[in-house]
Amino acid sequence: MATDDYHYNETVLTHIAEPHNIGEIGDADGIGTGTNPVCGDEVSLYLKFEGDTVSDAKMKVLGCGAITAAMSSVTDLVRGKTANELRELTHEEITASLGGLPKHKRHCAQLAQRVVRNALEGRG
Ligand code: FES
Repeated sequence: MATDDYHYNETVLTHIAEPHNIGEIGDADGIGTGTNPVCGDEVSLYLKFEGDTVSDAKMKVLGCGAITAAMSSVTDLVRGKTANELRELTHEEITASLGGLPKHKRHCAQLAQRVVRNALEGRG
């Protein structure tokens, strides 16, 4: 499952081929959006809470393979977590959940992390 600086590993490729939880949540409790101004990639994250924990998460992405994989993984990672736990989620943890990203693609995980924070700020 190694990642070098020129290739995506199998975990990343699987997320790219079949991204998890694509779509919107109509009655979301938190919606976060984010753009990377350098590449123009855009993402949205929708969070539904039950009490203090995330019960559902969906995402939309217009961007590279790495951000597609990162957001796909984020929609799994956030389930069952509290808002406080999500605030502590790091881009390194997102990268690790993918088994690593090529060095020049690590900013994609940073965008995913930013969108999680934005969704919490937008929590109703
Ligand atoms: Fe911009 Fe991936 S290349 S988020």
